[in-house]
Amino acid sequence: MSTIPATTSGSSRPQAPEKAWWKEASVYQIYPASFNDSDGDGLGDIPGIIQKVDYLGALGVDVVWLCPVYESPQIDMGYDVSDYRSIHAPYGTVEDVDRLIAALHERRMRLVMDLVVNHTSDQHVWFRESRSSLSNPKRDWYIWKKPRWDAAGNRLPPNNWASVFGGSAWSWDETTGEYYLHLFCKEQPDLNWENPDVVQAVHDIMTFWLDKGVDGFRMDVINFISKSPGLPDAPLKLPGQEFQPGDLHYANGPRLHEFLRGLREVLDRYDAFAIGEMPCVKEEQDVLMAVAADRKELNMIFQFDIVSIDIGSGGKFTSKTWSLAKMKAIVNKWQTCMYDNNGWNALFLENHDQSRSVSRFTPHRPENRTAAAKMLATFLALQSGTVFVYQGQELGMANLPREWPIDEYKDVETLNLYRLAMQQHRGDSEAVEQLMDQVRLKARDHSRSPMQWNAQQHGGFTTGTPWVRANDADYMHCNAEQQLRDPTSVLAYWRQLLRLRKQNVDVFVYGRFELLAAADPSLFCYRRIDPSGYGVATLVLNFTDCEYEWQVPPAEVVEALTAARCVLGNYEPPAELNGDGSMRLKPFEALVILELEDLYEGA
Ligand code: GLC
Repeated sequence: MSTIPATTSGSSRPQAPEKAWWKEASVYQIYPASFNDSDGDGLGDIPGIIQKVDYLGALGVDVVWLCPVYESPQIDMGYDVSDYRSIHAPYGTVEDVDRLIAALHERRMRLVMDLVVNHTSDQHVWFRESRSSLSNPKRDWYIWKKPRWDAAGNRLPPNNWASVFGGSAWSWDETTGEYYLHLFCKEQPDLNWENPDVVQAVHDIMTFWLDKGVDGFRMDVINFISKSPGLPDAPLKLPGQEFQPGDLHYANGPRLHEFLRGLREVLDRYDAFAIGEMPCVKEEQDVLMAVAADRKELNMIFQFDIVSIDIGSGGKFTSKTWSLAKMKAIVNKWQTCMYDNNGWNALFLENHDQSRSVSRFTPHRPENRTAAAKMLATFLALQSGTVFVYQGQELGMANLPREWPIDEYKDVETLNLYRLAMQQHRGDSEAVEQLMDQVRLKARDHSRSPMQWNAQQHGGFTTGTPWVRANDADYMHCNAEQQLRDPTSVLAYWRQLLRLRKQNVDVFVYGRFELLAAADPSLFCYRRIDPSGYGVATLVLNFTDCEYEWQVPPAEVVEALTAARCVLGNYEPPAELNGDGSMRLKPFEALVILELEDLYEGA
């Protein structure tokens, strides 16, 4: 085989990315409440995670990202921290975290903790002091403001910002006669990063955990920490609504990059790693400012274009029809932008805030669920970036059953937004049904349902009563125990996929991305090209629930299929070129064709 051209654009090709362990890594996200309950209290716990580290090792992941396990009143499932140095008692103890770190390190895996420092719980001692009097030394650790008054003398919040979870982003505090800001629940007051003592306190928390051996942090809504001076009103985006999205004034604010560099200095003392969660950021330049290597800020961020593709202008539970063309444009944009500018992508379709990808992005007949889950896995894991697998995604876990009523949904975001929408739609049964359809599609509850370990009661997650109902219609036939035995399972496929990526890092990690068949409405097709020219992978993914007769596959696909073989696919035998040059793909068929130059050829 001849050497594969490294580029089609000649000498202007950007440098190949610098190598780094965190680029080659795949990360497994654990939502502790729903992962594995070791003591039968119905809630997952850290000893339960320790019982499963070999399962994670066998899957082939390198890093575990653990959602918050700190002491918390659990208004927002631990994203409301009341003590950053203690563990929520039902999850275990700080010593359990030590044991988890040791168990992972022994297996050459790392631990990334969640760092939630845009806000604390209102039960944190800092906030309890802050709200106690105007002169308390902690007063300025949070964002307090005097009210506004309307012409009729009614008290109003200091500005019109909406909370992400609905209603005003301000709550009135009777004791001191001021409002405090909370971009999320009223029990999650925002910290005031303008106060250097707050910044120092955050650095100290990081140091505490890094000294214990934690390998890095996932930083919760980290681009919200710097707000526009004066906290001006947000522009009107949602006509007729009292409160408006204020992200223009709190996402990527004026001092964000200074604060991020401060965090990075702490991390660099430990060679630790940081991934930032950054909602509301869409411009390439804004993302690059945080992740380009020479900026010395974050290693990568979670960017939300893909998981916002079906969200309407009225908010999370309003609908939007999406097309594969749109998905291709998003993927192409970020894949090329990061490669060309020395940034790095975080690849994800699921997490604890998103529903199950197989239900959301691949509307399928039940018999095609396995194929659909494998196709999505292929789509995601072989792009350029660090792969994030959310617990249960490796099994193809699905959304909760359609017939479950709203009473089965427990998440504060779901319930708040549902309540507000119901007030709006009073008496309009069609609007209410549409709302419920969106809840069925996108609520966070879907991914928070207990992990399905086996076919026993509650999917083997707990011997007690689970804190949320397990998907009992599903765990009988979708669970880890059964998939571990089945070489054709989604789990077995994820293992193969992660192994393939790791065995061919020059192609799948450091290779550049090239979109093929951009105009095809049903197929997602791309290539990954090793920058030194020794390998190319060509991926063909049928995103539809139908067979697809591809009349004219692009020349690159034809050449790949002629020169090389399919190294991974979700059907046996995989689709092939017909004599007339066409291809017939099965529903959700995925093919990975790998061409490798033999480095030792002729040596
Ligand atoms: C992030 C978390 C989410 C949480 C919110 C407030 O988006 O991922 O779960 O509710 O921040 O902390």
